[in-house]
Amino acid sequence: MIFKSGSAIQTEQIGSELAKKLKPGDFVALYGDLGAGKTAFVRGAVSVLNPRAPVCSPTYSIVNCYGGDPRIYHFDLYRIENEDDLYSTGYYDYVEEGAIVFCEWCEKVPSAIPENAIKVTIKGDGDSERVIEIC
Ligand SMILES: Nc1ncnc2c1ncn2[C@@H]1O[C@H](COP(=O)(O)OP(=O)(O)OP(=O)(O)O)[C@@H](O)[C@H]1O
Ligand SMILES: [Mg+2]
Repeated sequence: MIFKSGSAIQTEQIGSELAKKLKPGDFVALYGDLGAGKTAFVRGAVSVLNPRAPVCSPTYSIVNCYGGDPRIYHFDLYRIENEDDLYSTGYYDYVEEGAIVFCEWCEKVPSAIPENAIKVTIKGDGDSERVIEIC
C-alpha cells in the first residue's frame, strides 16, 4: 500500500491506521533517511496502542518501552554497527517475547530484521510531501 503525507500529523494518522491492525508479536521495520518521519509514524501508532505513552526518539537510548499489553518497544538502530552491539541491548529477547516492536533504521542491521516484518518505507524529507509504502 502506498500513502502520501503532506504533514507530520498526516504521517501520524497513517501510523495510527496501521496500529489498529497490529497483533502481539508483530515487528514494524521502518526505513527512510534522517528526518523522513519514522518517529512521527511510530508516535501515531503508539497513540492507538497505549494513548498515554509519550513517544520520543530512541536515537541515544537505543530502545524505549511504552508499556502496554502486549508490551510496545521502539528501537532506533542508527548508532548500532552490528549484531553483537544489538545483542547487548536485549533486542533479541524483546523480539521473541510477543511484544509489538517498532524499529527505525533497519538499514543498519538487515540480518536482524525478521523476515515477516511489516516494512514501512518513508521517502522525502524537509517540508516536501512524503511517500509512505507499507508492505
Ligand atoms: N509529511 C511529513 N511527515 C512526517 N514528518 C514531516 C512531514 N513534513 C514535515 N515533517 C517534519 O519532519 C520531521 C520528521 O522527524 P522524525 O523525527 O519523525 O524523523 P525520523 O525519520 O524519525 O528521523 P531520524 O532518522 O532522525 O530518527 C519533523 O520535524 C516533522 O515535523
Ligand atoms: Mg526517528
